[in-house]
Amino acid sequence: MRRLLIVSNRLPITVQKSNGQLLYQPSSGGLATGLSSLGDELPRTWVGWPGYEVESAKEQAVLTEELKKDHLVPVFLTQKEIELYYDGFSNKTIWPHFHYFTQYTTYRDEYWEAYQTVNQKFARAILEILEPDDLVWVHDYQLMLLPALIRRAMPQTSIGFFLHIPFPSYEIFRVLPWREELLQGILGADQIGFHTFDYMRHFLSAVYRIAGHEHNFGKLRISNRLINVDVFPMGIDYEKYAFPQTNYEQDDDAAKIQQLASTRRLIISIDRLDYTKGIPQRIQAFGRFIAENQQYRGQVSLLMIAVPSRASVDNYQELKQQVEILVTEINSTYGSFDWMPIQYLYRSLNFNELSALYRVADIALITPLRDGMNLVAKEFIAAKEQDKKGVLVLSEMAGAANELSAALLVNPHDLPMMAKAIRQALEMSETEQSWRLESMQKHLKDYNVRRWATSFIQGQEKLIKQQQNYESTVLLKGLHRENLLSAFRRAENRLIILDYDGTLMSFHPDPQAVSPDEGLLRLLRALRQMSNTKLIINSGRDHQTLQQWLGPLGLDMAAEHGVWIRRGGKWKINPGLSSDWKADVRTVLDDLVDRTPGTFVEEKDYSLAWHYRRIDRDLGEKRVREIRDGLLYLTANHDLQVLEGNKVVEIKHASVSKGKASLSWINEGPWDFIMAIGDDQTDEDIFRVLPRKNAFAVKVGTEQSIAQYHLPGVQEVRALLGDMAS
Ligand code: UDP
Ligand code: G6P
Repeated sequence: MRRLLIVSNRLPITVQKSNGQLLYQPSSGGLATGLSSLGDELPRTWVGWPGYEVESAKEQAVLTEELKKDHLVPVFLTQKEIELYYDGFSNKTIWPHFHYFTQYTTYRDEYWEAYQTVNQKFARAILEILEPDDLVWVHDYQLMLLPALIRRAMPQTSIGFFLHIPFPSYEIFRVLPWREELLQGILGADQIGFHTFDYMRHFLSAVYRIAGHEHNFGKLRISNRLINVDVFPMGIDYEKYAFPQTNYEQDDDAAKIQQLASTRRLIISIDRLDYTKGIPQRIQAFGRFIAENQQYRGQVSLLMIAVPSRASVDNYQELKQQVEILVTEINSTYGSFDWMPIQYLYRSLNFNELSALYRVADIALITPLRDGMNLVAKEFIAAKEQDKKGVLVLSEMAGAANELSAALLVNPHDLPMMAKAIRQALEMSETEQSWRLESMQKHLKDYNVRRWATSFIQGQEKLIKQQQNYESTVLLKGLHRENLLSAFRRAENRLIILDYDGTLMSFHPDPQAVSPDEGLLRLLRALRQMSNTKLIINSGRDHQTLQQWLGPLGLDMAAEHGVWIRRGGKWKINPGLSSDWKADVRTVLDDLVDRTPGTFVEEKDYSLAWHYRRIDRDLGEKRVREIRDGLLYLTANHDLQVLEGNKVVEIKHASVSKGKASLSWINEGPWDFIMAIGDDQTDEDIFRVLPRKNAFAVKVGTEQSIAQYHLPGVQEVRALLGDMAS
């Protein structure tokens, strides 16, 4: 069984020192609480910072031994590192920036340097204990460089990375001077997970725009490595909150909390005191609710728990003051001798207190301005499992809102909307409360924190298998390459079918700029002159261009995906094709070009191609869909086919294809060696018609293919052909 190596900045246990004694407390925050709830399905070790500066070597040794009992491995940080890496780059640069608080983003080189140093420190700690079969799972924004650091040192390690905070849109992310290094760091992982599709989409867009890698349904292929990017919304330990093992009679605090809601309706608000949580706006919205709804004065209280967090960062200190002022303001404006509208506590709660609060509260008001997920919202819903009474008012900007759509969703910047939602929640019928809760509970019960972790880990294990297939059977190198060459040399009747663009010549934004160079002409001539060898060029290009560029070599060729065939020096058109349809299709494509600068239409005898190499991929894909829709009627009536190639869409007769064209030579056999090489979707048609025996299909590039081999690029194709010809 593999061992799971969890790595996060903070261990699930935070160490504190009081009166010379080391105290061990559970860490707060979604990452630590969520992951601590995992079962023991996999043996696991957790590497992270114990949350406290341990200076003496002796104390470090004691702590290390103590933590070892729980399979925890501490990474000790110095005061300077805490200041520059944790408070600094993590919490003054990345945290605000990724939560769209760009006004708080601090740009300081020494923060960045410390971030690199500490990520390296974590890498060293992991490498000390890493076993080849371990599955490493790195968590969150503090350790974004770590996957690549581990990969560099131990390339075969299976590494997962999960971001617990939002990944911002490209327009925000691009502003960071260290954007490329951060992306490259994350891309060291095999599997990259996010809480929501939006975060994933933003990440993939940044990867494309900044690092130039395109994805295919969330799969990236970088330097012959397969990476899976996916959405895994984190769940909670449902049973723990639904059926807490607390004895309320014996637990004093829990019993007091039970009393809280006995005389008044109770609204709770629980978060770390963080500016992303929208606490001031929430207080103001509650104030507005009281101002507008006199009948509720004295009837409703807001119990606000603010958990101390990152208190050495200025913005957090300022927030604390601001919150205290706002609470005082509301209380002094509306409070009376027997009613305090807001009860405010700046402290953390233990599980019993938290769970008691969830149970007694009528409403949970959870309105972050931005939040990666928000587990408190989910815990509140689970705690209502037994009585099915309670309403969740939740911000649209929390990742959890994607799953908890039966909550009252609010825009946390819209105070009137929030005040209205509070009233709606207070007046909601029990029947409505119950059906809303049930629908959310069903989902949370099913997709709990174990399912979340298991699906991430299973995804990674599946990927390991895919990678093994991809790497060992597909890349045409070493023994595979030798086998192909010796089959070629042994054979007595050989057929070679080659695509042109992207296979023999690299892509260029201008398709006319890729006439064959001298080296290529020499290579093709040499192959053509080999005895018992038939060389075919099978291209989507028009026949005039192919004739002009390659005609003198005397090869057989197929042009326009088989509309034209050249044999014995003569071009012949595929009989029975018409081009009446072209004018109508051309009108649609010309209109598209007008609306999409940078694209153009190429007109061939029996097909039209729309090229979009120079434009944004997303816009390109949108336009391709438009073409499909716009041409539906025309293509059906004329038996046309819309073919998606590499940054090109081609409209042509359904009855012609590169595959059909290839068959005319393949059927001339018997051949005891056939090799087809191509890079494009349209070349898949050739691979498909190859006989099972004695045939080699070679895909150029890293995209999915039915070919059994692939080569990285044009250079490798030419090298292979060179070896054949020599
Ligand atoms: N929590 C806690 N004690 C508290 C308040 C909260 O243990 O006094 C826990 C809570 O149960 C939840 C986590 O801290 O699991 C907060 O996670 P969330 O995703 O809501 O926010 P984050 O702090 O990660 O931004
Ligand atoms: C959020 C972050 C976690 C972090 C937690 C508590 O949930 O995503 O990575 O651990 O807040 O913050 P702290 O700075 O105390 O670790």
